[in-house]
Amino acid sequence: MAVIKWREGYNTGVAQFDNDHHKIVELIDLMYMAIRDKSGKEVIEKACNDVLAYTGYHFDNEEKAMQAVAYAEMAEHVAEHSRLKAEALRFQEIISSNFPEGTNEFYRFLRDWLLNHIQDCDKKYGPYLQDGGDK
Ligand SMILES: [Fe+2]
Repeated sequence: MAVIKWREGYNTGVAQFDNDHHKIVELIDLMYMAIRDKSGKEVIEKACNDVLAYTGYHFDNEEKAMQAVAYAEMAEHVAEHSRLKAEALRFQEIISSNFPEGTNEFYRFLRDWLLNHIQDCDKKYGPYLQDGGDK
């Protein structure tokens, strides 16, 4: 059962990115379950890496789509993506050297960051990107 409940308000109206966001939520759910089940360092680190790899791919696509329509708020948006990536690296280092320290915090950070980012930043691009993106 999914841990994070998807709400209608998370939809941006850009189908490609709504699908990506669903996938990221699923990966964060898997990460949560691995941590909850004390699955061991290798499994938990892999679950974290899976979230970050897919998120990185998704950020690149969002950024390309914003660039394609010369989206006015692109710089701030990209800065938010960079902040998440920097913070994730910091957590990965903590987890790598002090496992399992940092795992629960990393899960909560990713969940909260993502849901806030979707609602505060991603929803704003909805009206501009509905026909954009590399569909
Ligand atoms: Fe974004």
